Amino acid sequence: MPSTNAEIAQRLSGVHDEWMMTDAERSAVHSMLTTLKPQVAIEVGVYRAGSLAILAVHCQKVYALDIDPFCEATYASRFPNIEFITGPS
Ligand SMILES: C[S@@+](CC[C@H](N)C(=O)[O-])C[C@H]1O[C@@H](n2cnc3c(N)ncnc32)[C@H](O)[C@@H]1O
Repeated sequence: MPSTNAEIAQRLSGVHDEWMMTDAERSAVHSMLTTLKPQVAIEVGVYRAGSLAILAVHCQKVYALDIDPFCEATYASRFPNIEFITGPS
């Protein structure tokens, strides 16, 4: 939960730093994954791994694609069930 004024203002704007979706969009994704229970997912565009983190919880295997090598270098060790691919979609 946000605790500082800056965090609260940011949350009220609807977009979180690590997650480039509003809370409502995040809730919709969570509901969809809970209902569909996909075994495999492909994420095109990782950024700071906000949506990827929830995919990693709900899917057995995730392929994560981003053109920015920062994503694979930073998050590959954090998610054992995610295979990172660095390059253009
Ligand atoms: C909007 S952000 C992704 C947000 C993330 N899914 C989330 O929910 O936090 C877009 C990402 O797409 C990546 N990207 C942009 N153009 C790309 C391309 N042609 N191929 C692969 N990745 C690309 C950027 O590097 C960036 O990390």
